[in-house]
Amino acid sequence: RGAHSRFSRTQRITATGQIRVSNNSLSLYKRKFNTLNDTTMISKKMQEAINAQINAELWSAYLYLSMSMDAADKGFKGSAHWFVHQFKEEQGHAEKLAGYLQSQNAKVVLAPIAAVQTEWPSVVAMFEDTLAHEQKVTAMIHDLCKLAAAEQDFATANMLQWFVNEQVEEEDTARGILEGFKAIEGEKVGVYMLDQKLGAR
Ligand code: FEO
Repeated sequence: RGAHSRFSRTQRITATGQIRVSNNSLSLYKRKFNTLNDTTMISKKMQEAINAQINAELWSAYLYLSMSMDAADKGFKGSAHWFVHQFKEEQGHAEKLAGYLQSQNAKVVLAPIAAVQTEWPSVVAMFEDTLAHEQKVTAMIHDLCKLAAAEQDFATANMLQWFVNEQVEEEDTARGILEGFKAIEGEKVGVYMLDQKLGAR
């Protein structure tokens, strides 16, 4: 535990701030948590919170990949394409957070990814779930921002601003598509055309 006492300043910073982590793989993660680096400006609490967010982003990726598979199964090729694109974006978010931790000499620990829903009643239901999910992710990002502020972790707070802006965009996009589908509800040609348009993403 020599390294721990040498970097006790980092330890003290961890005393403030809270983050909700709702992941059923948390206990496994907690066991690995002791391996997180002390030789970094980021507190252990912050490292843990960012690692949890990496898991959440990868879960989001898996959710959208699942929506893509179900959309393709239902014959909505454009929507299936849109969700594959979203799957890749979410992977990019996870990579961005992992890259940040690494640049701060902090450790990335990948926890298991929980199962996702595999079927939806309709493509509209997928976009309803997409918007609801993005609203949850926004709340998670804001919790991270609160933790960074409480810890006076200026570098992490600055990095998180990209995600704050990204969430505004993600919610706006999902809401726009959902409104589009609702506006043409019941019109087969309209639904077909909107699906085609989503394929151009
Ligand atoms: Fe990574 Fe869709 O938020």
